Amino acid sequence: MNIEQYLAEQKTKVDQALLHCFAEESAIPASLKEAMEYSLKAGGKRVRPILAMASCEAVGGTPQAVMPLACALEMIHTFSLIHDDLPAMDNDNFRRGLPTNHKVFGEGIAVLAGDGLLAQAFHLLCKPTLLDCISPSGLLEIMRDVAWATGPSGMVGGQSLDLKAEGAHLDETALEKLHRYKTGRLISVSVTSGAKVGGATPEQLESLKSYGEKVGLAFQIADDVLNVEGDAAALGKSVGSDAVNKKSTYPSLLGLEASKQKARTLMAQAIAALEIFDARAEPLRKIAEYIVVRKN
Ligand code: IPE
Ligand code: IPE
Ligand code: MG
Ligand code: MG
Repeated sequence: MNIEQYLAEQKTKVDQALLHCFAEESAIPASLKEAMEYSLKAGGKRVRPILAMASCEAVGGTPQAVMPLACALEMIHTFSLIHDDLPAMDNDNFRRGLPTNHKVFGEGIAVLAGDGLLAQAFHLLCKPTLLDCISPSGLLEIMRDVAWATGPSGMVGGQSLDLKAEGAHLDETALEKLHRYKTGRLISVSVTSGAKVGGATPEQLESLKSYGEKVGLAFQIADDVLNVEGDAAALGKSVGSDAVNKKSTYPSLLGLEASKQKARTLMAQAIAALEIFDARAEPLRKIAEYIVVRKN
């Protein structure tokens, strides 16, 4: 399969679905809606929704069924990016090829746009159509998993560790924990929740959990590497900012080559975790490869 083509096609589907996410939400104040949509529609690779769709497909589910979950994951991720870029956090000026949300709408609205996307994501997860393919208790479990991976035990917790680690020296164990929390868990839950919508067996879920944890960590290591040697235009965001902010990253701890090697090892482990799957897991295998060679 051609992974570039696959990713482009899946991204188009996600982009289309995201366009309609707030269509019925006439109660949202126009200026807040504009700020939320600005970052959501700015682009982005849509890796988390694509993983949820690919994982659903790997276990024999229909990817279309997973779309509300896929959009919710992208909203949560976009919320994390808006807040991550704030002056109080990474103080970045560019994201997804555009000025950051707070640069356009101001810090107050950017905080609220993030909050709004987070709540809207869970609103979307309550969509009755998801109950066409999953039981109410199964959906409740997905909501609990997504909340856990987003909140203080996941992304939000990781962001707090990231701030505390600025200017500090972390050993590899502590750095791995930081990366698993801030990025790994949301990526991992994208994989497992997509599979749950697709009707995964416990054995399939176990393998996919392992796959998700490996690609989740590899994804953040690749992000660290790109911040050192990536191209700002291709990335749509600033490079070199981790060093300026004295962030604890894999390249700062291990060096560039060892970081790339670590990402490649995780990629191989992720693919190995999919051993029990047939050709329907091919997109997941190719996504693992893509994650460590990507240029944006
Ligand atoms: C960037 O995520 C922030 C991290 C968690 C590493 P992505 O690289 O998925 O960013 P977009 O969604 O494509 O903009
Ligand atoms: C982003 O980490 C993690 C989250 C937004 C949760 P980074 O701060 O390293 O990501 P970029 O490089 O700004 O996208
Ligand atoms: Mg950050
Ligand atoms: Mg950042």
